[in-house]
Amino acid sequence: MEILKQLIRASIPDKTLGRLREARDAFYQVRPDYESVERREFMRKSFTALSFNGISGDYLEFGSWGGMTFSLAYHESRRVKSTCKLWSFDSFRGLPPQVGPEDEHQMWIEGAMSTGLAEFKAICKRNGIPENDYVTVPGYYEDTLETQYVGDIKLPNDVAMAYIDCDLNSSTRTVLSFLSSRMKHGMILALDDYYCYSPRTLSGERLACLEFLLNDRRFHFSPFVQFGWHGMSFIVEDRAKHPSQQPEIP
Ligand SMILES: C[S@@+](CC[C@H](N)C(=O)[O-])C[C@H]1O[C@@H](n2cnc3c(N)ncnc32)[C@H](O)[C@@H]1O
Repeated sequence: MEILKQLIRASIPDKTLGRLREARDAFYQVRPDYESVERREFMRKSFTALSFNGISGDYLEFGSWGGMTFSLAYHESRRVKSTCKLWSFDSFRGLPPQVGPEDEHQMWIEGAMSTGLAEFKAICKRNGIPENDYVTVPGYYEDTLETQYVGDIKLPNDVAMAYIDCDLNSSTRTVLSFLSSRMKHGMILALDDYYCYSPRTLSGERLACLEFLLNDRRFHFSPFVQFGWHGMSFIVEDRAKHPSQQPEIP
């Protein structure tokens, strides 16, 4: 199937392919399907909550593919006058391979959902996101999230919202481990594929969250907004401040 796809692609002139991609991107941007409507609504609620509650920090997105959620985040953040920097972490080469049963899913195919960096920047431009307002960190998370710097880019430490849309359990684990030292009370953690799972076992983004909370007892994830049938978000809470952790009043 993949070989057939490559043969068809090779037979289409680059210019035509470029136009087709632009048409596809434009279609996804304007398509008023319930998923983008719900994601917009979710972004609106999130940035309103962050602004109202005075939560500082940047917007970090893990998995940006066609730029839909990135564009929604930009416009909803600016609507509440936030000047947060937006960060896009993506291989810009599509999904990596599944590495275990926890990654198992019929839709998570290696190389799928690939948008090159130049194409992604063109989408941002078309969607009115100024170049100075965002940073891209290209590469697989296993390579980019292990250090403080990627090239001369210093990775952000103050995070208001992390939007995880990288599908696989293995990718989400790496992202959560990167976020671990950056988690703070009041930030929003959103998982676009929280309810995408294997028919055989616990898997995907939800399993990565359960494992994270089991290993790191500092935080509680308080349910915030569900978006679409697939996505879920949480407010990160300092567990030590939780009433259940307080000494009993005699
Ligand atoms: C579902 S798409 C993101 C869709 C995007 N939020 C949108 O609105 O168009 C998933 C993305 O996650 C990225 N991804 C998944 N695992 C990754 C990893 N380990 N390293 C880098 N990128 C990864 C893929 O490249 C792909 O672009």
